[in-house]
Amino acid sequence: MSLAFKRFISTGAKSAKKYMAPKPANGPTHAKLSPAQKAYLDRVIRVDQAGELGADLIYAGQYTALGHRQDLKKLIRHMWDQEIHHHATFDALQTGLRARPSLLTPLWKVGAFGMGLFGGIMGKEVSMACTEAIETVIGNHYNTQLRVLSNNFSDIKDLRTGECTHSEEVKNIQNHIKTFRDQEGEHLHIAVTHDADKARPHWLIYNTVKLITKSAVYTAERV
Ligand SMILES: [Fe+2]
Ligand SMILES: [Fe+2]
Repeated sequence: MSLAFKRFISTGAKSAKKYMAPKPANGPTHAKLSPAQKAYLDRVIRVDQAGELGADLIYAGQYTALGHRQDLKKLIRHMWDQEIHHHATFDALQTGLRARPSLLTPLWKVGAFGMGLFGGIMGKEVSMACTEAIETVIGNHYNTQLRVLSNNFSDIKDLRTGECTHSEEVKNIQNHIKTFRDQEGEHLHIAVTHDADKARPHWLIYNTVKLITKSAVYTAERV
């Protein structure tokens, strides 16, 4: 069975533990999140899980189309491996924090794999222009989430000291998002240094894929 197909039918992470903040032995260390904070965090997990599932399958599609090329095989595989890790992390966080997953998961799977495959069939330059557009949107999206988590989640009471801070659970999510944001930045750099701008017509491909990605993010946050 091909690796890409295995990713297509795989269902989530087996163990949530390794991606979660460790559970304190003597009960909770921080007060509960407010309903608004809990709702925002659920939305973060839902959209990021759907987004990383999409990214995993986009690179699976690209690898299917371009993995035979010696100049691209390692490069696409490197980005794909990082997306597999991002995807597994948000699968685990979604399970561990009992957030509701996106109801449109089958659509994200088919759409993402199709986009990666189609871009790859159109050639290296188109594929890289798609990556450039997607990673630009996702980098900004993660930066927005980091800003909100930093500003709106610093008032959770530490039950041991009475101080208001970020809880371990929130810090753990912030750390994952920071790492992934940096890796998406690396993918963007790879795309722009591997001829994304040589795709024709670059402006049309870039802006269309950007619009599709933004619409998918907007929808996955809500549905
Ligand atoms: Fe990612
Ligand atoms: Fe990425």
